[in-house]
Amino acid sequence: MKINENFLNLKESYLFAAVGKKTAEYKAAHPEKDVIRLSIGDVTRPLAPVVIEAMHRAVDEMADPATFKGYGPDQTCYGYEKLLQSILGSYARKGVRLKTGEVFVSDGAKSDCGNILDLFSADNVVLLPDPVYPAYADANVMAGRKIIYADANEKNGFLPMPDERVHADIIYICSPNNPTGAAYTREQLKEWVAYAKAQNAVILYDAAYEYFVTDPALCRSIYEVDGAKECAIEICSYSKTAGFTGVRCGYTVVPEALVRGGASLNRLWARRQSTKFNGVSYITQMGAAAVFTEEGERQIRANLDCYRKNAGIISDCLDRLGIAYTGGKNSPYIWLKCPNGMDSWTFFDYLLAEANVVGTPGCGFGRNGEGFFRLTAFGTEENTRKACERISGLFR
Ligand code: MLT
Repeated sequence: MKINENFLNLKESYLFAAVGKKTAEYKAAHPEKDVIRLSIGDVTRPLAPVVIEAMHRAVDEMADPATFKGYGPDQTCYGYEKLLQSILGSYARKGVRLKTGEVFVSDGAKSDCGNILDLFSADNVVLLPDPVYPAYADANVMAGRKIIYADANEKNGFLPMPDERVHADIIYICSPNNPTGAAYTREQLKEWVAYAKAQNAVILYDAAYEYFVTDPALCRSIYEVDGAKECAIEICSYSKTAGFTGVRCGYTVVPEALVRGGASLNRLWARRQSTKFNGVSYITQMGAAAVFTEEGERQIRANLDCYRKNAGIISDCLDRLGIAYTGGKNSPYIWLKCPNGMDSWTFFDYLLAEANVVGTPGCGFGRNGEGFFRLTAFGTEENTRKACERISGLFR
């Protein structure tokens, strides 16, 4: 037999695994130190009470032979109507009309960012912003696809625009962006939609951070742009919106209007999911269905406001120190320029050793991330304040 040799082209470990390993080594060598992790974007607020109550009710249903559930409904790829309707309701409030058959419940955005590639030939050209969430590049390296990059940098506000001279078949867009926090306006996304259509390409739009958007000029869904249903798949998650990083639930929209090579991508995806996926647990789906209710939205907004407050604490600290950054508004990530010209890993080591604060080296998100560093607002307020005091102590 032969292995998939594309795996040999990957970096030795995934970015967050490398950060985790370095942190664990430091902690093992310095067990007395209070290390604060503002690296991986993992939430710290507990689930909203409406979610917990819905999950408890679902557990009780599973205990009763009259209401017990086995596999989910196969005509919707195992998504329960209650959850699908709540997702359609959330889209309708953004002015986007979808049908239940266009929404596929998943175990989170990360899996579908990679799994969706099953629909596309290995010889497609993939366009990625640089820097961006490393799972996109890794998933395409595994499949042996050619990857080209759109430079995101200080000059373009970390929001690269399409270049019609460059050909691409698959385009990843993450807005608000992980790691830079920069988010596209409706006008900018119109240009991406026009470009994708001209290229006969498909946009894979990662909207995992859309609930952080408060500026009305910014898009929360690519389908707010006319014509996007003909060229875009949108990948969403309850992880950051509702604290589901440990629960696992998301949804991917594949519009019926999306046709490539004479085939409906919606049908292909349904075919793929019914073969390779058995859905998300009933208990999880019922918890998720409580998120986009009126009370659910009120409660998750209270949690999101805590993270926004943390983003403000970090931004104020950097402002006082005169350290340049983007993000922190409409995004839980703060993307800062490493002080004193340090490269990303040097700054990582320095911050870990001198302030016992862990962030994420920008170079892990792409070449253009070198010299930058990402901090997350998903920590507790207490730890965020403590981390900022320690950083201030270093650079005052
Ligand atoms: C991040 O820190 O970039 C994210 O938490 C990673 C993820 O969502 O998988």
